[in-house]
Amino acid sequence: IPVDPFDIVIFGGTGDLSRRKLLPALFHRWLDGQIPETSCIVGTARSEMDTKAYRQMAKEACEAASGDNWDSKEWARFEKLIHYVSIDATQEDADWATLKSFLTLDDARPCVFYLATSPRLYVQICEALGKAGLAEENMRVVLEKPIGTDLESAKAINDGVAKVYAERQVFRIDHYLGKETVQNLMVLRFANMLFEPIWSRNYVDHVQITVAEDLGLEGRADYYDKSGALRDMVQNHMLQLLCLTAMEPPNKLEDDDVRTEKIKVLSALVPISGDSAKKLTVRGQYKAGVKDGKPVKGYLDELSSDADSATETFVAIKASIDNWRWSGVPFYLRTGKRMSHRHSDIVIQFKPTPHSIFGEGYESANRLVIRLQPDEGVRLFVQIKEPGPGGLRVKSLPLNLSYAESFTVRYPDAYERLLMDVVRGNLSLFMRKDEVEAAWTWVDGLIEAWEQSGDRPENYSAGSDGPLAAAMMMDRDGRAWWEGS
Ligand code: BG6
Repeated sequence: IPVDPFDIVIFGGTGDLSRRKLLPALFHRWLDGQIPETSCIVGTARSEMDTKAYRQMAKEACEAASGDNWDSKEWARFEKLIHYVSIDATQEDADWATLKSFLTLDDARPCVFYLATSPRLYVQICEALGKAGLAEENMRVVLEKPIGTDLESAKAINDGVAKVYAERQVFRIDHYLGKETVQNLMVLRFANMLFEPIWSRNYVDHVQITVAEDLGLEGRADYYDKSGALRDMVQNHMLQLLCLTAMEPPNKLEDDDVRTEKIKVLSALVPISGDSAKKLTVRGQYKAGVKDGKPVKGYLDELSSDADSATETFVAIKASIDNWRWSGVPFYLRTGKRMSHRHSDIVIQFKPTPHSIFGEGYESANRLVIRLQPDEGVRLFVQIKEPGPGGLRVKSLPLNLSYAESFTVRYPDAYERLLMDVVRGNLSLFMRKDEVEAAWTWVDGLIEAWEQSGDRPENYSAGSDGPLAAAMMMDRDGRAWWEGS
């Protein structure tokens, strides 16, 4: 279904995010007939460049993202929507008049300002937009993560932006919420009667959420070394996954219903501070290792030859949610760079049967594995009888729902869905101010505990499954990480 014609201005229009994600996402929505041709896309950045050069840059980016499906005819039509304006939004004499000349400035037409810049500039840019008369009712601002580096800086951004835009005009992106499989999590939970009654402390032994990446810094050393895995992945993506897994059924799907349920989960997270952090968290940093038979540099060498840094590239946390549904059920979170293979899974491990009539030596607990990426799918492990006349042997095997086998359609990138939601004004997949702040409150406690302890992260070899301490954390509880086999 096409959206209404709209204008979008991308600040940081020449940057990595614009080239890798935003422009290709808009082009794909165009290919699917969702973007009317009277819409307008304006890239802005400080660099001097004309529209012709910008279109060429955008073309190369979209061609790279499209691979074999590149459609040059459609590109020739689409590029007419694209313009470039050189603007330094932080300067008093910035050329807002030229930018405005590309916008329709009609009350009924959505106008989106996408800030794909450093978060340090968010408030300044919003203030400048406000002064330029670009904060009207029909206008929206999109903020990329990270929103701040701690609670204080997140509040400063939120409060600064709030002076110009009302909360319903602010779209804080967490691209995990745009992933098909993450949305499927809600469908699986709330469009099936099967799971909801057993989705609680009565039947669930524990939950594991893993986002393992095999890549390293990918040229983002400056940002990453100041951030680390906790700020980069846990504060946002991992906590969003935890919320969607643990939240109560929302009344409906719209805007605040889902966000209100998520915030209840965040506020029920038991703070981890002081000595408890030693028991409940593990930090790791990768050292040199081997991947696919080839040597891989360690984190410090990726930074520079003489670098020293205590930034964590891996984190594992045993979290608890203090509420009626989840009391006593651990939520183990784990994320890391340069791990053995890329896999993101949510594992619901159910309790064993109360009594075995089939003897010993088999697993009697069910497990639901929601594979977010790659090989998206859902597997429910059930016990079945192994065929054969030699006695009754029980084996655990998955009922297997593979997305690739069930659907032949192309998977849209998360940004495609989210950008169209911004145009439609649908806020439900975006983070509310208080949600971001609640997540920081919990994460700040952890950071403080780590700083007080002065401990350095434990090393793990690049290409492994993380530090030994993470395996031991599970082992102490008589459990093991699901390694995605
Ligand atoms: C980003 C993080 O938000 O998410 C990156 O900054 C990380 O460090 C990325 O690699 C992971 O996203 P995806 O979609 O590749 O799982």
